[in-house]
Order: sequence, then C-alpha cells, then structure tokens
Amino acid sequence: MLPLSFLSLLLLAPPAKTTTTPTSTQHVLRPAPQHRKTGFAAFGDSYSAGIGTPLPSNNTSSACRRGAGAYPVLLAQDLTTATTTTTSFQWLSCTGATTHDLLSTPSGTSGTSQIDAFNASLDADFATLSIGGNDLGFFAVINACVFRFYGPSSGTCAAALAAADDLLRDPGFEQRLSLILLEILDRARWWEKPGFSVAVTGYARFFAAETDACDSASMSVWRGGPVLSKDIRRRMNALVDAVNRKLRAGVEGANQRFAGEKPRVVFVDFDDAFEGHRFCEEGVSEPDYEREDTWFFLPGARDVPADDDDTVAEMGVIPGDSVLVDPARCLRGAEASGDWGDLAVCYMAMARRQHPELAPSHDRVLPQGSMWYVPTYYGKTFHPRSLGHRVVRDQIYKVWEENGL
Ligand SMILES: *[C@@H]1O[C@H](CO)[C@@H](O)[C@H](O)[C@H]1NC(C)=O
Ligand SMILES: *[C@@H]1O[C@H](CO)[C@@H](O)[C@H](O)[C@H]1NC(C)=O
Ligand SMILES: *[C@@H]1O[C@H](CO)[C@@H](O)[C@H](O)[C@H]1NC(C)=O
Repeated sequence: MLPLSFLSLLLLAPPAKTTTTPTSTQHVLRPAPQHRKTGFAAFGDSYSAGIGTPLPSNNTSSACRRGAGAYPVLLAQDLTTATTTTTSFQWLSCTGATTHDLLSTPSGTSGTSQIDAFNASLDADFATLSIGGNDLGFFAVINACVFRFYGPSSGTCAAALAAADDLLRDPGFEQRLSLILLEILDRARWWEKPGFSVAVTGYARFFAAETDACDSASMSVWRGGPVLSKDIRRRMNALVDAVNRKLRAGVEGANQRFAGEKPRVVFVDFDDAFEGHRFCEEGVSEPDYEREDTWFFLPGARDVPADDDDTVAEMGVIPGDSVLVDPARCLRGAEASGDWGDLAVCYMAMARRQHPELAPSHDRVLPQGSMWYVPTYYGKTFHPRSLGHRVVRDQIYKVWEENGL
C-alpha cells in the first residue's frame, strides 16, 4: 500500500489525461474524488480470484482459490482508504469459472451463478469482470503445449490450438458475454445509476516470442517434454490476442445498447503493461524460478512481492478428501470444476499410473512431502503474481480516467 499522505496528494491532483502508457512504478493513478466510488462487485475467473497470491485476511481460502493479492482486493483497499464511508465489496470471482457459471439461472429455479449471488441491495457503483480463458480452452493449450501434466497422453499442441481456434470461431462466447454484461447492469439498476459501469479485464500474452534461448528450453513437468519454440510462443500469444479482441468486441456490442455520455462497459487491456515481464524474456533461461520481474507464476513459484508465508497460502487449499488425486476417479470432478490446479494434479496422478517410467523434469515438479497434490501449487501457473495484479488495478484506474468514470 502507498503511504496515506502520498495517496491524498494523488487524490487532490486533477484527473490526469494520460496519452502515454506509464508503467506502474512511474505513475500510479487513483480514483479522483469527483468519481468517488463506495461499493462494487467483482465477477469472473481465477484472474480476479487471484489464485496463488496470499490467503485472504480471514485466513480461509475456498474452492474458488481466492488470494488477497487479487486486483479486486486492491481496489477495495484503495476505496476504503479514499472514502470515509464503508466500502461494500462483493467478491464473487471463482477459479475455473466460465461464462456459463456467471449467467443467471432461469427464474423459478434457485440459482447459484455468480450473477444470482450478486446482492444488488448492497451499494455498488461499478463491477469488474474477468472471463473467457476457461471458455476458450487456455488450460488445454497450456497443458498440451507447455507443461504436459498428463505426460504422453496430454494430446498434441497443434490439436489443442486447433480446438481453441474452433472455440474462438463459435459466436456463442461473445453472445454470452454480452448477456452477462446486460444482466449485471440490470441487476445493478443502471437506469437509476448514471455512473455505474463494468470494467472487463483482458489477459496478457505469456511470452516474449522472438528471443532465442527458449527455443531449447522446456517447462514440461516430465523430463523430455517439448521446447518453447518461437512458433509455439507466437501461437499461444496469438490466442491471448484473439481472446482480448473477442472481449473488446463483446464490450463494444454491449455498449451500443446504451445511449449516454459515458460508456457503461469498458475494456481494460493490460497486455502492454506486461511487456518485459513475460516468460522467455531476453537473457532469461526458463524455467527461471528466481526471476522476480516475471509477473506470471511458474508451478510452485513464490509470489512477488514475496509473501511472508507461501506455504500457508498453498496449504490452505489442500483438498478435504483424496478423491482429487485418485487417478481412477479424479477426472470427472476436475473437469467439472474447470480448475487448472485440480486438472493438473489429476493429470499428473493419471500420468504416473499409466506411464511409471516418467521422471519429473526438476525437483520443483513433485515437491517434498504432500505438497505435490496441492492444486494451487500448479493451478496458479500462468496467472499474475501480486505485482501483476497491481498493474491490472492501475490499468483499471487509467481506463476510468480516460472515460471520465
Ligand atoms: C473469508 O473471506 C472470503 C472472501 O471475502 C469469504 O468468501 C469467506 O466466506 C470468508 N470466510 C469466513 C470464515 O469468514
Ligand atoms: C492460517 O491457517 C494456517 C493453516 O491452517 C495456520 O497454520 C496459520 O497459523 C493461520 N494463520 C493465521 C494468521 O491465523
Ligand atoms: C443483501 O444485502 C442487504 C443489505 O445489507 C441485506 O439486508 C440482505 O439480507 C442481503 N440479501 C441476501 C440474499 O444476502
């Protein structure tokens, strides 16, 4: 957190009309006082649940794998500091969520979706939403092309990329996204709240694609796995770009339904801000567990900035029963949850049973003791570390400023 005095200075300053892209360390925007916000709801997937960042202050994680470094928590902290009134913060994001987990269920049935759980009687001046990565098969691609949790049975990278391309071509995702945005706005009674808006956050490309060293580097969890060729890095980056384009189109589509000076939905693209902080940057030999300038997690990597007690954060989500790692039974539950960690752990258990010859590629893969079956250990992979979440938060402020929100 910034010292209070610094924060007040920023709050007194007129809203900056930024035209350049400042990095988070050079220039941190805060909500200006005339746009003061007192409450919000955060919807979406693991990117807004903050998987892998420290446990929430009540020291309880959940099946949703929420972490206190998540950008919605950072927003809530800033709002509490900046306002005298109590901030209402509804944190509905859940790891593994797809558009289907957000959409409200038909009236008459008792719904459990994130939008059903949104309590519109509580103060809410805005909402945030991260969604799309699970709908469009990020895990399947990352598994097949990079980690190969299920060993030789992981499927080919080409097939996973082709499946993701098919999902991208299906107009269903964009339609569900538009519907979600309209449902959130309706629940929030937008017609009574001229300032209410939804900030939709995108994803960042995972790789520096043109560097040479990664052409011979591998992040596979089992020895002898595929290298991170330029072609694979480019194609995975292209997938992220395509998802961001879809999100932007969905946001623009939803906005067109509303007349008004200010947009009701904004797209927050933080990809540029991650430049220099991806995997396979120049001079980096992957997997590099010591590089703190990488803003994504590797499997089992520490948080950045360092969490006092990473072990606690990971132990907090040990599954209550061992079904999760029973190779004969785990897949159905893991697939139903869509949780990357559940899937990774289950695939590794299945791989070990079906291919006893597999050897871990390095000693971080199957860590000492029981840690190896902690889903968060693997599930946080390719998700922002706490430092990355700060950058997402700052980008939200920047987009608000640009749109007068
Ligand atoms: C801890 O906080 C989370 C997130 O705010 C909440 O979902 C959960 O119910 C809380 N648990 C307890 C025991 O208060
Ligand atoms: C949080 O929970 C962990 C695991 O149960 C425990 O070891 C730790 O002491 C707890 N921390 C706090 C601050 O209560
Ligand atoms: C919604 O919030 C209001 C105001 O705090 C509260 O009275 C009500 O019980 C909440 N509704 C549900 C379903 O939790």
